[in-house]
Amino acid sequence: MTSTATSVQVCDHPLIQQLLTRLRDYQTPSGEFRRRAAQMARFLVYEAMKELGTRPAGVETPLGPAKGTVLSDYVILAPVLRAGLILSEAAQELLPNARTYHIGLRRDEETLQAISYYAKLPDALPPESRVYVLDPMLATGGSAVAAISLFAELGVNTVHLVSFVAAPEGIQRVHEKFPQVKITTGAVDDHLNEHGYIVPGLGDAGDRLFGT
Ligand code: PRP
Ligand code: URA
Repeated sequence: MTSTATSVQVCDHPLIQQLLTRLRDYQTPSGEFRRRAAQMARFLVYEAMKELGTRPAGVETPLGPAKGTVLSDYVILAPVLRAGLILSEAAQELLPNARTYHIGLRRDEETLQAISYYAKLPDALPPESRVYVLDPMLATGGSAVAAISLFAELGVNTVHLVSFVAAPEGIQRVHEKFPQVKITTGAVDDHLNEHGYIVPGLGDAGDRLFGT
């Protein structure tokens, strides 16, 4: 794991980087893309969650009592539709009791503004909640900022963003508005093109995941 700044963790594990290479390849077919993306999601979520709080809990093994550990944080998963679903599926496998709030956002192709089409959040959340905003692509950062804002408005301070690939422009935009947000990603790429796509990136994550 390398850090480009204290709050950006780039996961340089060889298995993650090999998976990312398969995802980047334009020849990787949709079925394989989805399978590799699911594996990558599991690794990234695992890395992002290493800061989860725990408390001691005793357990009985067949041979007697042992010291154990349980998670103590109030964890919220917030996948940004559609592509974020691949990350929330991985996270739910690891944390079946986490609450999942889906955030529907789509980028306007012309303006690149994030347009909200679904968000069903509770009226209040425990202030100590730990939210994982899950979206494979952090491009202009508009979608991430919109998603994080929903939780900031509810008074949640601990937000962690998990992505496969991030653009420097998106990281900057997120940190300008929310300096405390931690970002875990597979790569920080070079730049955005004139259409707001990450270069070199991996193309349109939603389209490649769902074969559209
Ligand atoms: C993609 C991606 C992010 C967003 C990133 O979603 O999954 O949500 O674009 O771009 P931004 O950082 O410039 O906001 P898209 O809007 O294409 O929707 P989709 O997942 O339904 O394809
Ligand atoms: N959304 C994607 O899916 N890919 C990009 O490169 C930018 C936004």
